[in-house]
Amino acid sequence: MEIISDFLVIGSGIAGLSFALKVARFGTVSIITKLNRSESTTYYAQGGIASVLSKDDTFEAHIKDTTDAGAGLCHEDIVEMVVKDGPERIEELINLGARFSTKKTNDIEDLDLGKEGGHSKRRIVHAGDFTGREIVDALLRAVDKSKNISIFENHIAVDLITHSKFVHNSGEDRCWGSYVLDKGTGDIKTFLSKVTILATGGAGKVYLITSNPDIATGDGIAMAFRAGAVVANMEFIQFHPTCLFHPDAKVFLISEAMRGEGSVLRLKDGTPFMERYHPQKDLAPRDIVARAIDFELKKSGDDCVYLDITKKPASFVKKRFPNIYKKCINFGFDMTKEPIPVVPAAHYICGGVLTDSYGESSVRRLFAIGETGCTGLHGANRLASNSLLEALVFANRASEKALEILKDHKEPYPHIPAWKTGKAIDSDEAVVISHNWDEIRRFMWNYVSIVRSNRRLERAIRRIENLKTEINKYYWDFTITGDLVELRNLAVVAELIVKAAAIRKESRGLHFNIDYPEKDDKRWKCDTILKA
Ligand code: FAD
Ligand code: SIN
Repeated sequence: MEIISDFLVIGSGIAGLSFALKVARFGTVSIITKLNRSESTTYYAQGGIASVLSKDDTFEAHIKDTTDAGAGLCHEDIVEMVVKDGPERIEELINLGARFSTKKTNDIEDLDLGKEGGHSKRRIVHAGDFTGREIVDALLRAVDKSKNISIFENHIAVDLITHSKFVHNSGEDRCWGSYVLDKGTGDIKTFLSKVTILATGGAGKVYLITSNPDIATGDGIAMAFRAGAVVANMEFIQFHPTCLFHPDAKVFLISEAMRGEGSVLRLKDGTPFMERYHPQKDLAPRDIVARAIDFELKKSGDDCVYLDITKKPASFVKKRFPNIYKKCINFGFDMTKEPIPVVPAAHYICGGVLTDSYGESSVRRLFAIGETGCTGLHGANRLASNSLLEALVFANRASEKALEILKDHKEPYPHIPAWKTGKAIDSDEAVVISHNWDEIRRFMWNYVSIVRSNRRLERAIRRIENLKTEINKYYWDFTITGDLVELRNLAVVAELIVKAAAIRKESRGLHFNIDYPEKDDKRWKCDTILKA
């Protein structure tokens, strides 16, 4: 079955939905999404969106905070562009109907701006601690009103369709859409498009312990890499310092905004410890806080540290953090009365598909926006709440270039053969998938997480090479399922992370290797580039 639209958007988080809304007045849009339409990392975002919106703040300060966190690798032109574009993008969201928290000062109702680690000013726009849900709901309401947008739920993109694969002597790589598995019927459909947008989010599921939802399996990055796109900075994985520690809780994030409102990290005996690691104490950039917790846990042998907000009035805590408060109560912790147990978890990938300043990848007409892209904004460490901002800004930028492409597009679609199933048969060994999945996530957690070493990275490379061979064989021998697509992608992403980490022989931002504990600007002040 062939489905043709001007724009194919893979993913229905903030990046994909925002892009779709921008272009829908000018052409047809297919959004494919692998579960239901609101299931995305965006939906779970708590803290908010960073942007300069108060009189006390300046673009210069936001730029400086972003580049300080990025440890020398931010692309300064991109940082400036994103920061300056922020207020307009936030206004657009508000005009779409997103209701952000406000507060009254001197009888004037204004946005209630939060604070998070690494920010020198209050600049985080939020909707209580349900910010992501508010954004997704507003975007989906607008999408529903557009006749030009069709959403295909339970459809998972399998591989991209590129020019060089099907049109001989084409002389350049160009994307024409994607093969997509309809998880309901098992059919593989051909989605053809003039412009293809990867908005598939991050890859937290490559680690055993992650704040990310199940959809975050790095599909866009893996597909782009297989299609020949350049991928960059994959070693920079951000670990969020504070996720709820509870044997029965699927990892649940405890927003950094809690520290922005004065909560303090403590050891089991109650001692605060962040003052030993950074002058900004509990509001130091995330890499420093996560490493400090890792160090303290290794030293003490304890399972977790504690986050204490008991000094704040209970009424304030319940109003400002209703989602976190309720979740903690469900697990038996009343955070207005006692510190809550927390541990770090894999949270965000700063690297991804390398793009230009419009979000276009090295494969023409293939864009990567949101967490899938590597635009140069985050460098070696993302500043808190700069991710939703980046997604909004790059969805808008990508729409500008995509509309130019549409205007100039004259050539017909090439003939693309339907997906060939070959001799694949149904597998009766689902256990192979779950076993391999588990193995990847465990060795990535043990060998390639907050603190790395040459020996651990070598072990990880050996493991991933064996697993990749096994997974590839399985992939071609058996009928494709959503789980198998994700496992194959997870293996590619794990390999890219391990390889990038092994290439960088220094410690910088989120990449810390005990064999090279110092930053080495002379040799390594550059992006880590990988290409198939
Ligand atoms: P996502 O929102 O993850 O959307 C990806 C979409 O792609 C999903 O719809 C998914 O189903 C779909 N998809 C994936 N693969 C395929 C495929 N193969 N085929 C079809 N569809 C596919 N950042 C901030 O700036 N502020 C915050 O407050 C904040 N809080 C966070 C809280 C949590 C718990 C987490 C985990 C992250 C948080 N982040 C925050 C990071 C931020 O939420 C994400 O980086 C951002 O939402 C990513 O948006 P996206 O549109 O790129 O991807
Ligand atoms: C948080 O609320 O702590 C998450 C913010 C982010 O990841 O940017």
